[in-house]
Amino acid sequence: MNNIPIWFMRQAGRYLPEYRLIRKEKTDFLDLCLNPDLASVISMQPIKRFDFDFIILFSDILVVPYALGQNVKFLKNHGPSLETEQIDNCIRNVDFEESIKKIANIFKTIKILSKMKKEKKLIGFCGGPFTVLNYMVEGGTSKDHKKIKKFIKYQREKAEKLMYYLTEFSIEYLKQQISHGADYIKIFESWASLLEGEEYENFIIKPNRKISEEIKKFSKETKIIHFPRGSKTNYIKFIEEVYCDVIGLDLNFPEEVLKISKRKGITVQGNLNPEDLVAGGEKLKIKVIEVLRKFKHNNHIFNLSHGILPQTPIENVERTIKIIKEHEIT
Ligand code: CP3
Repeated sequence: MNNIPIWFMRQAGRYLPEYRLIRKEKTDFLDLCLNPDLASVISMQPIKRFDFDFIILFSDILVVPYALGQNVKFLKNHGPSLETEQIDNCIRNVDFEESIKKIANIFKTIKILSKMKKEKKLIGFCGGPFTVLNYMVEGGTSKDHKKIKKFIKYQREKAEKLMYYLTEFSIEYLKQQISHGADYIKIFESWASLLEGEEYENFIIKPNRKISEEIKKFSKETKIIHFPRGSKTNYIKFIEEVYCDVIGLDLNFPEEVLKISKRKGITVQGNLNPEDLVAGGEKLKIKVIEVLRKFKHNNHIFNLSHGILPQTPIENVERTIKIIKEHEIT
């Protein structure tokens, strides 16, 4: 038996029939994120079913562009859609107080969850500024990310201005989440993979470092989880230069990250491939144990390398948890 803490990215979502039931009634995803009664029920669904150790707020990283004045829609079977011609609104009409008000219902959800959480830890979150900028500029999910790459090369001044507002607003937004009861905050920098060199420095390291600094100044006790997904060898630079309590790891991080994390007292979080969770079978057991062994010399929170897939069988989640709990660490 062991008691490694466990939670899964996107643990509340479409693989759960009880989520799909609510979603069938509420076709507007953003409305659902801004509905404290339903968002708190959804956040608790995976806890009720699997007794995970962490509750993550049910919301989305794209509430931030919405708050700043860009229309955001979630289209069925298509993902998010943002109106790119409205980007200038987010610089021209910035009034953080007004913007925070637009998403203030999220703080109500956090308040409700903080009263229900008991011994569980509650995670609030936002997107990394560059990842949010990526969606704002691309207008949604993109295959080649051509627009964002061009944008930061040829419209540098505007890109920097937007990054400045996104960073400052994210800090304000996270502070409010903490004030309403979040124990951990996670910054999802899901598109860190797109940048290298000087661009990685200015668009990933600096804004994430600023967020960490301001959050630690605001609340020493709050734990910060960073997830600069796809950073590859830059994972090393990231944990050396950005304050992290926990580092979220994908499938391709350099070994050295484990040594550095141990030295710096950083907890590592990861990294079962969501595809292995879908596939199940004997391979799933092998892969789960492989993850446990890989991190056995570190403080470890068991998680996936990316979000759980909608086609994931529930029994594979149950079995994974059982394997983790029954595994003897030697
Ligand atoms: O983890 C959780 O359970 C908490 C809730 C949460 C959601 N999105 C709910 C959601 C969190 C933490 C996110 C983060 C998020 N959102 C990220 C960063 C993590 C990552 O996946 O890289 C990103 C990039 C987004 C933007 C986003 N939201 C996309 C691209 C999509 C469409 C793709 C998809 O999976 O449908 C969403 C929609 C979304 N966010 C859903 C959920 C449950 C599905 C919406 C539905 O019910 O139709």
